[in-house]
Amino acid sequence: MKIAIINGPNLNLLGQREPGIYGSDSFESFFEKLKAQYADISFEYFQSNVEGELVNALQQYGSEVDGIVLNPAAYTHTSVAIGDCIAAIKAPVVEVHISNVHAREEFRKLSHVSGKSAGTICGLGLDGYRLAVEYFLNRS
Ligand code: DQA
Repeated sequence: MKIAIINGPNLNLLGQREPGIYGSDSFESFFEKLKAQYADISFEYFQSNVEGELVNALQQYGSEVDGIVLNPAAYTHTSVAIGDCIAAIKAPVVEVHISNVHAREEFRKLSHVSGKSAGTICGLGLDGYRLAVEYFLNRS
């Protein structure tokens, strides 16, 4: 099974960025543990702070992998292009947010991604990525 994880803007700063909200682990250290735990899965990882690069990555992985775990970060709340892209590609997408976006500012309650995704996990920290992987494993 092939799974791509795509992270949006500022998620390269995990571990240093607002640790009270996003925790103190870097994504890289979490990802090493995830790969060790799911050694049979072939993972791809892409992070960008640029909206169009995220669209390009979704289009590319969309025909190459069995599932995409996507945290579009702030673009969740603004990007019609990312929502349209999810609807256009073959691979199913699970939307993940580390924080509980529904318990924060009002603008974080709008997602252009949720309605196009297989499902959404939010508020469970980095474990949300692992739970999305479990979803893909259990549906295959
Ligand atoms: C986030 C939530 C978004 O509202 C925010 O802009 C992020 C991270 C999360 O993982 O909790 O950058 O997607």
